[in-house]
Amino acid sequence: MATLFEPAQVGQLSLATRVVMAPLTRNRAPGALPTELMATYYAQRADPHNGAGLIISEATAISHQAQGYADVPGIWNDEQVQGWKRTTQGVHAVGGKIVLQLWHVGRVSHVDLQPGGQPPVAPSAITAKTKTVLIKNGLAEFVDTSAPRALALDELPGIVQDYRHAARNAIAAGFDGVEVHAANGYLLDQFLRSGSNQRQDAYGGSIENRARLLIEVMQAIADEIGGGKVGLRLSPVTPANDAVDALPQPLFTYVLQQLAPLRLAYLHLIEGSTGGPRDYQQGPSAFDYAALRHAYRSAGGTAAWMVNNAYDRALADSALADGADLVAFGRLFIANPDLTRRLREGAALNKPDRMTFYGGGAKGYTDYHSLSS
Ligand SMILES: Cc1cc2nc3c(=O)[nH]c(=O)nc-3n(C[C@H](O)[C@H](O)[C@H](O)COP(=O)(O)O)c2cc1C
Repeated sequence: MATLFEPAQVGQLSLATRVVMAPLTRNRAPGALPTELMATYYAQRADPHNGAGLIISEATAISHQAQGYADVPGIWNDEQVQGWKRTTQGVHAVGGKIVLQLWHVGRVSHVDLQPGGQPPVAPSAITAKTKTVLIKNGLAEFVDTSAPRALALDELPGIVQDYRHAARNAIAAGFDGVEVHAANGYLLDQFLRSGSNQRQDAYGGSIENRARLLIEVMQAIADEIGGGKVGLRLSPVTPANDAVDALPQPLFTYVLQQLAPLRLAYLHLIEGSTGGPRDYQQGPSAFDYAALRHAYRSAGGTAAWMVNNAYDRALADSALADGADLVAFGRLFIANPDLTRRLREGAALNKPDRMTFYGGGAKGYTDYHSLSS
């Protein structure tokens, strides 16, 4: 059995440790442009012996339409690619690895954030019972999401193309790979789930149909940059952003069986309710993650298995003992740039300040202290 602090080969990524920084939206990219301050923040967490063996970037919009929150970064144009280079160079300068999380929010958006003030897009015209974040007078404000319109069938190839283009841009910006965000009730998750997808065409109804868009996106990105540089994030039972499915176990089993041939780098599973109870249940019985992994391995899937949600050192050790390969830590990395060192040494942990999670500047972002050496 590997320990948290041992190297791992993850597709084409050679990682120094198994400690991963989970994707964390921080709303500090006005105009969707990555900043110098963001480069500083990531570099602080990038040295793999103190910080993360792998950093997953904050969720990053693949197109203007993909945006659902104020001041989140994008990866659809050249200026954004140039902006991200500061981050990737800073991470690589200290020996770190970083992948970009590719994001389309679907219906979790607001007309104020959409091109031309248009409604957000979704599998079906069903409003999500959730909030998004606008920034007004410099302050983050939670507002209801806007009513979406259903994507037409002939628009779906364009969505796949936007993902492919964003993945190509991510590599051009110097990222070591990408993570496709299909968790937490965003567009790809909206297509997967019976609660948000009530389409009558080839992309709705049966499990096979609801999984179609995600599988097409994964295939296109793997074709573009190679499956060994691609991860996928899923949250089979989370209720985040009004995600509802009647039968998650067969749905996610089918998805992973279909993806097995792509030889992806890793699969990233949020266990339970994102940022909430790990034993949260959706569907008729408790979700069986071990059975899901077994089904994937039986189908020939080789991706590393990454787990997330409320992990501490003890829980991480037991997950590795049970066959997980990587553990992603979110909130702990906000407050502890040197989390790996602190976990290894059993040192006290800084507490994250929730008031500075979304929006603002250096306070609560780049001013958390590392242990002095
Ligand atoms: C401030 C904040 C921002 C987040 N942003 C993202 C994101 O951009 N993409 C994503 O997949 N998850 C996001 N999450 C969820 C985290 O990646 C993670 O799943 C969650 O915090 C549970 O892990 P933890 O207990 O280690 O914090 C965010 C969570 C927080 C607290």
